[in-house]
Amino acid sequence: MDGANRILNPHLRSKVMSAHEAALLIPSGANVGMSGFTGAGYPKELPTALAKRILDANLHGQKFKIGVWTGASTAPELDGALAMVDGIEMRLPYQSDPTCRKRINAGEMEYIDVHLSHVAQFVWGGFLGKLDVAVVEVAGILEDGRLIPSSSVGNNKTWLDQADKIILEVNAWQNPHLEGMHDIYYGTALPPHRKAIPIERTEDRIGEPYFRIDPSKVIAVIETNKADRNSAFTPPDQNSQRIAGHILEFLQHEVKMGRLPKNLLPLQSGVGNVANAVMAGLQDGPFDNLTAYTEVLQDGMLELIKSGKLTCASATSFSLSPNALTELNADLPRFKDSIILRPQEISNHPEVIRRLGVIAMNGLIEADIYGNVNSTHIMGTSIMNGIGGSGDFARNAFISIFMTPSSAKNGSISCIVPMVSHVDHTEHDVQIIVTEQGLADLRGLSPKQRAKVVIENCAHPNFRPALREYYDRAQRYSPGRHTPHLLDEAYTFLPNWIANNAARAAWRQESTVQADAWAT
Ligand code: COA
Repeated sequence: MDGANRILNPHLRSKVMSAHEAALLIPSGANVGMSGFTGAGYPKELPTALAKRILDANLHGQKFKIGVWTGASTAPELDGALAMVDGIEMRLPYQSDPTCRKRINAGEMEYIDVHLSHVAQFVWGGFLGKLDVAVVEVAGILEDGRLIPSSSVGNNKTWLDQADKIILEVNAWQNPHLEGMHDIYYGTALPPHRKAIPIERTEDRIGEPYFRIDPSKVIAVIETNKADRNSAFTPPDQNSQRIAGHILEFLQHEVKMGRLPKNLLPLQSGVGNVANAVMAGLQDGPFDNLTAYTEVLQDGMLELIKSGKLTCASATSFSLSPNALTELNADLPRFKDSIILRPQEISNHPEVIRRLGVIAMNGLIEADIYGNVNSTHIMGTSIMNGIGGSGDFARNAFISIFMTPSSAKNGSISCIVPMVSHVDHTEHDVQIIVTEQGLADLRGLSPKQRAKVVIENCAHPNFRPALREYYDRAQRYSPGRHTPHLLDEAYTFLPNWIANNAARAAWRQESTVQADAWAT
């Protein structure tokens, strides 16, 4: 495909219209499956035009809301614009938009936080209701009607298959050299008809580079020329560097012990600055011929490919800073052999993650002394982003690492707590916890042994004495119990308690008296 004419199919060319006209084709109450994954490959014009239409309807006293299903987080032009006009009834499966977050936590928007690998099968199974319209950005349309995917794949294959109607955004900004980079696998099915997913190495291609569609379902094609939303990464701070250092030391130790090969196993790295810092750390580390079987390809991974340290990265989306993206776009053909973009049902497939023996590295909000992890909720009640792919990877990885600074909000909140206020990853799925203070290897440890290493290796020194005290008293008041806790105190580390020391002290005194009474 040359860059100039992106719509080679005459029938689909005849469907070209403005975003405003296309937005009129989506009725209130529709479930709309949109492309988009971590700010890449989302429709740039239709959602904004739809938001204007919704605002107009609202001004005329009419309620207009839709269900928005995506790959993962998108951008202000999609989530932001629709949430701003209160146009989203139900959102799934992952978001990180501040306006969405506010509406979800104000009870104004329903949100289903689901493992990213589960979304496609939930839709095929009909558990989420009917998918009415797919709105998918593509890099081009071939003469025979097949579609060249853009900078993310996400759930697009499923949306295009399952939706009654399709609206395409053909984005001339997307690099035409993306053609050939994707691996769209059409072999998945619902049980009992499932077959093995034949990926045995990160670099295995098992599908085709294009989406297939039924052209008769296409009701509109919009021509756009707009950049993906890309956020710059902050340069790794001291904490991130120390976390990265602990992880690298741990990996070296595992190689030395003969538990990992010299080039490690395929890496999965979560979203955010800490994850990016770990990738940057690998740049100077001793490992060569690395591979990545992951969800998003961030700056750090691109650097590793450029330096030759990483030979192949399989993902479902790019998540690059503007600078990294400019560099990638200037030299995209060079990366064609080393980058594969797959549907998220495959990038996050438990079977493949388990077979490849992925080393998973994800962020957390709080971890408890026994190894349970909360990745999604503040104070156990307010959603931050969502579980994303962290559960897909953590449960099935060969090594599952969770990382965080030991404290948040300028040191006022401990990220290591007695009991997490919400559980995303249970103690059974969490093998390693790392903070800037150190690393706790929980493999092969009982709950009581785990508590000791988590407190001593990972907690911030300002909170360590209180955690020790909690654990000691928990043991005293429930001698011999498998997982000692003081249930009436387990949440006293949460921020509202920290912020109100007087109340906390009073509570502590009262509960100690109570516990003493029980003990006698
Ligand atoms: N209590 C209250 N707030 C906390 C907190 C805690 N225990 N721990 C972190 N936070 C706040 C931080 O202060 C920060 O707030 P801000 O945005 O107002 O500055 C925010 O949470 C993000 O924390 P940060 O330390 O910057 O980490 P991050 O950018 O690495 O994000 C997660 C951490 C857990 C939110 C993020 O990794 C996530 O959403 N994970 C779930 C999905 C996932 O893992 N996806 C990858 C799978 S492939």
